[in-house]
Parts: sequence; C-alpha cells; structure tokens
Amino acid sequence: MDVESNNVAGTRQIAARVARIAERGDVYGLVGGLGAGKTEFVRGFVEALAPGTIVRSPTFALVYTYLTPRFPIHHFDFYRLEDPAELIEIGFDEYLAGEGVCLIEWADMFPEVLPANTRLIRFVEKGLDNRVIDLGDLKP
Ligand SMILES: Nc1ncnc2c1ncn2[C@@H]1O[C@H](COP(=O)(O)OP(=O)(O)OP(=O)(O)O)[C@@H](O)[C@H]1O
Ligand SMILES: [Mg+2]
Repeated sequence: MDVESNNVAGTRQIAARVARIAERGDVYGLVGGLGAGKTEFVRGFVEALAPGTIVRSPTFALVYTYLTPRFPIHHFDFYRLEDPAELIEIGFDEYLAGEGVCLIEWADMFPEVLPANTRLIRFVEKGLDNRVIDLGDLKP
C-alpha cells in the first residue's frame, strides 16, 4: 500500500498509524535514500506511544531504545555499520527475540541479518516536501 506524505507532519502521522497497530516482536525495516524521511518516521512512531520523547539518529550509537507504555522501541541505523558482526556484539539477536519492536533504518544494507518477520517500509523522495511511503502489506 502506497501512501503520500506532503510534509514532515504527514510522515509522522503515517508512522503514528503504524505504531497503533504494531505489536511486540514486530520488526520494521525502513528503506530509502538520505533524507527520505526514515528518522522522521521513527519520531512519529515513538511520539505516538510516548509523547514528548526526543528521538535522535542512532547513526553512531547503532541503537537507541525508547520506553513506551506498550513496548520498548529499539531504533537501529545500519548506515555506518561496516561489518554485521558488530551487531552480534551489541546483542542484535536479543533485541529481535525480546519484548520490543525494532525499527531499522537502512535495513537493506544487511538483508541477511533481518528476521523472516521483517516488514519493509520504503520511502521515495518526490521533490522537496513530498514522499511516497510504501507500507507493503500493512493497512494501518
Ligand atoms: N514529507 C516529508 N517527510 C519526511 N521528511 C521530509 C518531508 N518533506 C521534507 N522532509 C525533510 O526531509 C528530511 C528527512 O530527514 P530524515 O532524517 O528523516 O531522513 P532519513 O531518511 O532518516 O535520512 P538518513 O538516511 O540520512 O538517516 C528532513 O530534513 C525533513 O525536514
Ligand atoms: Mg535517518
């Protein structure tokens, strides 16, 4: 399912809708170029469940966790990851097997580490403020 976003607020609203139907154990791979809106999507997702939370890009930290009343959200960014072995060191498998929901920016860089239940969400830039977001099978 493709949805259009015309500004940052639109992307955050779409993410909020996905957050409301998300369940423990879900893994969302966020795919799209630089500035496509992946981090803004995560902001909307986290904000929907834990209003006022400040979401920072985990480019260097690799993962940040946000606690919400429904489940923890683990926000990964594979962009600077050179070797997927680093993921083992930070306990990636434990995050996946845990009680939380994982959101992974640049998930397509290491498709081999993604679990079978990963849902890919694709972001395509269509000009300065417009994005098309392909939610796959999701119908939030
Ligand atoms: N409709 C839109 N949705 C999301 N972001 C938008 C939109 N229109 C403009 N923008 C701008 O695009 C940028 C998106 O940045 P964001 O950090 O979310 O991208 P990203 O996909 O996470 O990039 P990176 O790969 O560098 O992590 C922001 O500067 C934001 O203001
Ligand atoms: Mg980002």
